[in-house]
This record gives sequence, structure tokens and C-alpha cells, in this order.
Amino acid sequence: MQDAACINFLQWALPQLHMRWQGFRKVRGQVCKRIQRRLNELQLADAASYRNYLEKHPQEWQVLDSLCRVTVSRFCRDRGVFALLGDQLLPELIRLLQAREETTLRCWSVGCGAGEECYSLALLWQFRLHSESPGMFLQVIGTDTDAAVLERARRACYGYSSLKRLPPEWIEQAFDHQRNEYCLQPAYQTGIEFIGQDIRREQPGGHFHVILCRNLAFTYFDAPLQAQIEQQIHAALYPGGLLVLGAHEVLLEEAGFERLHAHLPVWRKADDSAAVPG
Ligand SMILES: C[S@@+](CC[C@H](N)C(=O)[O-])C[C@H]1O[C@@H](n2cnc3c(N)ncnc32)[C@H](O)[C@@H]1O
Repeated sequence: MQDAACINFLQWALPQLHMRWQGFRKVRGQVCKRIQRRLNELQLADAASYRNYLEKHPQEWQVLDSLCRVTVSRFCRDRGVFALLGDQLLPELIRLLQAREETTLRCWSVGCGAGEECYSLALLWQFRLHSESPGMFLQVIGTDTDAAVLERARRACYGYSSLKRLPPEWIEQAFDHQRNEYCLQPAYQTGIEFIGQDIRREQPGGHFHVILCRNLAFTYFDAPLQAQIEQQIHAALYPGGLLVLGAHEVLLEEAGFERLHAHLPVWRKADDSAAVPG
């Protein structure tokens, strides 16, 4: 499919999936390739025929929705964000929890991909925070709607390019290097759980001290859906809890949130009681 035809098709189809074309502009190549493969499967000649097909077969929208998932990720994506979390924000949060004699730091990674974000937190915890947090535990729930990436997350084996932002000594200690793969040792997977969930319809139970919703809702979803996700996340955070977005993302409304850094995408849920319940 020609680029122009694919752009035209996406500009027509994405709003009907409550997604925004602007988010897809740079990554359209991979989405267009998948759409072309689907056209071949259905033996359709071009984007116009697929448009007709979608109009006649409403269940096909679900297939198209799955073709529009972008699953790229890596460990400690956006180094500045993970440095701010490790150097300042998580130690502050842990001190608050310790003062309240709470023992578990609960985190949720929305659209967790193949687990890179969840395991980045686990590594930060093991190598930087654990020694200053005696008696405390890290719990991370990763949710994603794509069964294939969740399978990779549970397997926890990666190519070097996914790990290259990690300090070499972390890679050396935490991963077993076999052939072209680096597999995270089970000891570093403690407290991490992966669940198949679509953020538009479901979310894990309970409240969280930290929620990462990066390079998903605030890039690809349209404004009303972003507003819905923002409210869902706000409700799921403890007062004083942290929300981390992707490097180029911002909150739509910011209601009930305070931005913590001028350039890095980190917010805190407004805390009327000045304490983080656990
Ligand atoms: C670009 S990746 C981001 C991964 C990671 N958060 C990061 O920033 O590196 C987006 C992830 O969101 C998942 N995803 C897409 N739509 C979703 C939905 N409606 N609910 C949950 N996850 C979704 C995709 O399968 C993909 O793994």
C-alpha cells in the first residue's frame, strides 16, 4: 500500500477507534505493513476495498484495533525519568511509607509491553533502593492487551538492544547471557505480575503508589479517551502517589495532579491529607 493511501485510510479509521492520527504519524510504517498483510489475507485490492469491508463487517474493527498496537519498548526508556525516580521520587515515597509503617510499594505499569518497564523498576529497587528500605517489598503489576507481548514479558528474555540503557554491572549481575539472549534471573522477577487487560475497559484492583502509563494512552488515544484514562488513573492512585508518562506526553486536564518537574513527565496526585495511605 502506498504511504499516501495508508495515511488517508488511517485518518479515516483511527477516530472511529477513538485513536488520534498524530500519535501514529511517526510509527505508521509498521501499522501500514500489518494492514497490507491483512488486505492480502482477505484478498482485498486496496485501502478503499478494506474500508468497504469494514463497513460491511463490523467485527473487523476489532482486528484493525489489534493491528494498530505499537509494542516497542526498552529497559529504562527515558533515562532522565528513571534517574529522577531512583534518586529522588521513590526514596521520598519510601520514607513516607516507612513513617506509616507500610511494607509494600505498589506500582502499576499500564501497557507494559514485554515487561521492560516493570523489570526496570525491579532492577532499580534491587540495586538502588532495597538496601535503604529494610522490610519493604516492591509489587509491580503490568497490564497489556496484547497476549504475545505478555508471553514475552513472562519469559523475560531480551536482545542486548533492549538492555543497553542499563548500567553494565546490572546486566552482568541480573541477566543470564545465553546465545543472543539475556534472560532476567528469577530472583529479579519477585513481586512482578502480568495481567491481560485492556485499559479502556478494565484495570487491576486496589490502589497504587506509582502508575506508569507511558507511550500508550497519551500518544495514541483521542482526547475523550485520554480524559477517561486520566480519571481512571487518578482514582487508582493513592493521594500523594506518582504518575509517570512517556517523554513526549502530557496530561490533558491535570485536574487533581501537580506536575513535579518542568521537563520530565512526572505528576503527583494532589494530597489533601499530606500523607500516602498504604
Ligand atoms: C509503545 S508500547 C509502550 C511500552 C512501555 N509502556 C514503554 O513506554 O516503553 C505500548 C503498549 O501498550 C499496549 N496496549 C495497546 N493498547 C492497549 C490497551 N487498550 N490496553 C492495554 N495495553 C494496550 C501495547 O500492546 C504495547 O505493549
